[in-house]
Amino acid sequence: MAQDDQAVLEVTARTRIRRFPPRGHHDKRTIWGILDKAVVAHIGFTKDETPAMLPMIFFRRGDHVYFHGAQKNRMFGSFTDHPQVCLTATVIDGFVAARAALHHSMNYRSVIIYGTVEEVADPVEKLDALKSLIERFYPNRWDKIRRPSESEFSRVSVYRLPIQEASAKIRNAFPPPMPEEMDINVWAGVVPIETRIGVPILDPHSNPDTALNQDFSRIAEILRPSDGANQPGPPKAVKLGDELLGDVRQEYVPPAEEPVPPAQAQAAPSAKPRQVERPAMPHPAAEAKTVATAFILADGSRQDVDAKVGLTLMEAATAAGVPGVVAECGGSMACATCHVYVDPEWLGRLPPPAAGESGMLDYVEGGRREGSRLSCQIKVTDDMEGFRAAVPEGQR
Ligand code: FES
Repeated sequence: MAQDDQAVLEVTARTRIRRFPPRGHHDKRTIWGILDKAVVAHIGFTKDETPAMLPMIFFRRGDHVYFHGAQKNRMFGSFTDHPQVCLTATVIDGFVAARAALHHSMNYRSVIIYGTVEEVADPVEKLDALKSLIERFYPNRWDKIRRPSESEFSRVSVYRLPIQEASAKIRNAFPPPMPEEMDINVWAGVVPIETRIGVPILDPHSNPDTALNQDFSRIAEILRPSDGANQPGPPKAVKLGDELLGDVRQEYVPPAEEPVPPAQAQAAPSAKPRQVERPAMPHPAAEAKTVATAFILADGSRQDVDAKVGLTLMEAATAAGVPGVVAECGGSMACATCHVYVDPEWLGRLPPPAAGESGMLDYVEGGRREGSRLSCQIKVTDDMEGFRAAVPEGQR
């Protein structure tokens, strides 16, 4: 961010936070940070004296937000008479489950900007804005793709909105601890939300041999929960009823409906909530056999990991906190930040990388070498006792 991101915007009647003022922020650093994490902004405008709103993809540069669309877009048409808009952008971070109905909430980071849009008329600046929008998500793609033709260029409009009258609001908290609710025996807390990119799907009209020659790490970085993930505390094991969920990433299986005996169904509601038994949801590899593996870290030290058979090597490494195995995409083969160098002695004993993995290995941090593999694509098997791999330096 530029140096002036420390500045604080003037608070106006429209940007003053009235509900829960401590959650409000008017400093550029916070506002810019949220805008840089949001992918879609909703822009409210007035068309034919009627309020309307459109979702738009956008990017921020300095003190402006840029968005584009077809020149005949009805929102752009409204700007002639009503150039004043209200733009909102939100990143949602968690569901807040409370003991009281009206204390349920969301943890989030949001920005509201009020202002007057202006069209980017200068063709050089307009083209640069179109490029910046693409490169916000796909670095180095602009030079590989077809540029807009003269006709396409004339039919698209780019607008910018100054970030001058703006506010941010952040909720990052557990439900309020109301003493009168403490004996309600229901799980309360925060269910974090993580947005990830999935496995890239090749356009069926493409040549099937097209290499995966695009770096998607920028998208993963934007979607990644930012530092601290805006969660109210460090990640903890989660209690659901009386069952401890060691790994909340597993697929959630809803508990079976409990049959209610007819007599009980007729009874008046009890003052005390009934404790519902939940089925245990063990991780698929919870009871699995383990094999001793070792990771040689970037500083030359060694970390031994008892890897559960059935997990991927990435899952075993991240569960053990092996530094450098980041696994940004959670195993979707979209980030290449689970890269390891498999020991030569073991390389030939593993199934070879599939084409998709091999394509991703061309973009790994630290450079592809003999032995480069994505650890999320290696299944731990019971014949991997003594397996070794090295972790590259500076993987993120
Ligand atoms: S975890 Fe992202 S590619 Fe392996």
